[in-house]
Amino acid sequence: MQQYETYMKKCFELALKGEGNTSPNPMVGCVVLDKNNNVISEGFHKKCGEDHAERDALLKTTPEKSEGGTLVVNLEPCSHYGKTPPCADLIIEYGIKKVVIGMRDVNPIVAGNGIKKLKNAGIEVVEGVLEEEARKLNEIFITNMTEHRTFVALKTAATLDGKIATSTGDSKWITSEAARLEVKNIRRRYDAILTSSSTVLADNPAMAHKNKIILDRTLKTDFKNSNIYKSGSIYVFYDETFTAPEISDIKFLPAPVKDGKLDIEFILKKIYYFGIMSVLCECGGILNGSLIDYTDKVYHFIAPKIISDNSAKSAFDGKNVKLIKDTLNYSIDEIKTFAPDILLTYYRQTML
Ligand SMILES: NC(=O)c1ccc[n+]([C@@H]2O[C@H](COP(=O)([O-])OP(=O)(O)OC[C@H]3O[C@@H](n4cnc5c(N)ncnc54)[C@H](OP(=O)(O)O)[C@@H]3O)[C@@H](O)[C@H]2O)c1
Repeated sequence: MQQYETYMKKCFELALKGEGNTSPNPMVGCVVLDKNNNVISEGFHKKCGEDHAERDALLKTTPEKSEGGTLVVNLEPCSHYGKTPPCADLIIEYGIKKVVIGMRDVNPIVAGNGIKKLKNAGIEVVEGVLEEEARKLNEIFITNMTEHRTFVALKTAATLDGKIATSTGDSKWITSEAARLEVKNIRRRYDAILTSSSTVLADNPAMAHKNKIILDRTLKTDFKNSNIYKSGSIYVFYDETFTAPEISDIKFLPAPVKDGKLDIEFILKKIYYFGIMSVLCECGGILNGSLIDYTDKVYHFIAPKIISDNSAKSAFDGKNVKLIKDTLNYSIDEIKTFAPDILLTYYRQTML
């Protein structure tokens, strides 16, 4: 097993080259070794509809070179005709003798069938190499396939005392330029970003992204002049009892209201139906407080600053937990430095 970990890590690296472009497909990388274990080819899945990683790698070599060799890939090769022919068939055609896999495909059309096809052709299959990392790499795809819902991530940038803006609403800038640059990288991983009417009004952010979702219950933002509406595909959710204006580049979507707030569950179902497989929420504490129940993963930047004011805005608001035993609990996954700030990445404990 251990001898394949280096190649599996290379597969992850290759797979990440497709980050942001493969949705709704997974990110996959592949390394092909000849019979003497020399790397003869590499490939990755670049974009939905284009070649899978195995095909990309195999087509760069020849069956003469790969005969008796090993193919390493982070996801089980497919066995079905989708937008491209089955990778398992090509692997057999190329005379590969061993296939090393990070994780089984959770797509019910594949799930184990790719492995079965390879084994039936006399190929040795080694499974579960760096499986945990393989699963984390494709956490969005796994959530989509197994739970049929959008993967929800949330980003917040706070001071040491957990504040995201002063009492006057000033929030520019809590974190450093390095941290803000990383936010742009994080955004690219997700199919859409989501924010609130309050944040649009307070900050007038542009939030460059191909898909933007704005929760504006009473339609109070300036749809003509706010920066957020100037680019990308725009989805505005509003109270279904209101009447939306007619603006050609904006999709106005009525939603039910529960306890005076737009129904988050309804909105998340709706965006999944539109093909938005993952969303990064970038809002203030009030909306974060509503979203946190649906959030899979949090990117929490912390700047070494203190505001020290009870009326300053908090990163998460409105849950009003009274007893420590009732707190929402998380597992820290990663701590990174974007000097002088840090980024904590964490998951809800039940979601690991
Ligand atoms: N540091 C950061 O990471 C960061 C990120 C974003 C914003 N901010 C700062 O946060 C401040 C705004 O924070 P905030 O807490 O006042 O506002 P917020 O959380 O951004 O937005 C709250 C508003 O969203 C709307 N909303 C729609 N559906 C909702 C739902 N289901 N639950 C809750 N709210 C819903 C409501 O307004 P309607 O009902 O009127 O639509 C609500 O008042 C700004 O000063 C901004 O600078 C900081």
